[in-house]
Amino acid sequence: MDALVERGESVTVIDNLSTGDIRNIAGHIGSGAVRFIKHDLLLDGWQEHLRDAGRIYHIAADPDVRASALHPEEVYIRNVHATVRVLEAMRMAGCTEIVFTSTSTVYGEADLIPTPEEYPRMEPISIYGGTKLACEAMISAYAHTFGWKSWVFRFANIIGERSNHGVIWDFIHKLRQNSRELEILGDGTQTKSYCSVPACVDAVLFAVAHTSAPFTCLNIGSEDWIDVTTIASIVADEMGLPDVSFHYTGGDRGWVGDIPRMLLSIEKLRSLGWRYEVTSQQSVREAARALVLERGF
Ligand SMILES: NC(=O)c1ccc[n+]([C@@H]2O[C@H](COP(=O)([O-])OP(=O)(O)OC[C@H]3O[C@@H](n4cnc5c(N)ncnc54)[C@H](O)[C@@H]3O)[C@@H](O)[C@H]2O)c1
Repeated sequence: MDALVERGESVTVIDNLSTGDIRNIAGHIGSGAVRFIKHDLLLDGWQEHLRDAGRIYHIAADPDVRASALHPEEVYIRNVHATVRVLEAMRMAGCTEIVFTSTSTVYGEADLIPTPEEYPRMEPISIYGGTKLACEAMISAYAHTFGWKSWVFRFANIIGERSNHGVIWDFIHKLRQNSRELEILGDGTQTKSYCSVPACVDAVLFAVAHTSAPFTCLNIGSEDWIDVTTIASIVADEMGLPDVSFHYTGGDRGWVGDIPRMLLSIEKLRSLGWRYEVTSQQSVREAARALVLERGF
């Protein structure tokens, strides 16, 4: 949203603040650059605000992969039903462009790494991943039926100074409680791709500017990966805790639905001309540093 404001776009944000933090956009609301509507997509009353919208960035979701196994039907409603409500509101308001934030988890445990968008065996292994794949299908259907343009972005792990969940955030909070020992879920060898928020936003806006089809689907991530034990070491280092001992819960994954190895092919994005260079290691270090120092955790 910062990037849209910087480009001089007129932005309206609709969010129920269930996990969102109003402080992230308070400056823009104060300056008049952003109109903020506090509303739940599952209730009525926000749809009228779509009337003059040129493009919808549908980001709202329950993003907690691990917790999605605890209450699957609720996650389905928050993700799939909310998305269909957005699509219906767009149809009624005459909006014709939607950008959607999907996820690497739609591929499940892919045996082709780096995983391209055309990977044929879409077999999500988490409730969260299943809901996002269902959302993708409904977006494609609406876009083709009603002559819209849609962009679906399958994100690797996206991290930054405003992260409010995920492995870095989790480690920082655990180390704040006990600076001598850190519990690591799994055996620490889970290896995935991480990408910074600025690189991700740059990729989204670049791709939207360079494609124009009813349904464009693109992976976004960095071209390398990093294991969980290395992330733990970076976080401990950034917190000035060189002597932390790591304890592993064991097993090849952190939780049911966790994917031990994830690296997305970003060849398709590169072929459009996207040139931003970002590594997992660099993204993790920058996010950890920012969360520890700037946000004062
Ligand atoms: N962070 C990642 O690594 C990652 C990876 C893949 C995909 N994604 C996707 O990117 C998007 C943003 O993720 P995030 O990590 O920033 O999570 P987040 O929890 O910070 O953002 C979700 C936002 O949606 C809002 N929201 C949720 N349900 C709502 C509802 N019913 N009505 C109105 N607002 C609602 C929340 O208040 C919050 O501001 C999500 O769609 C997520 O699935 C994130």
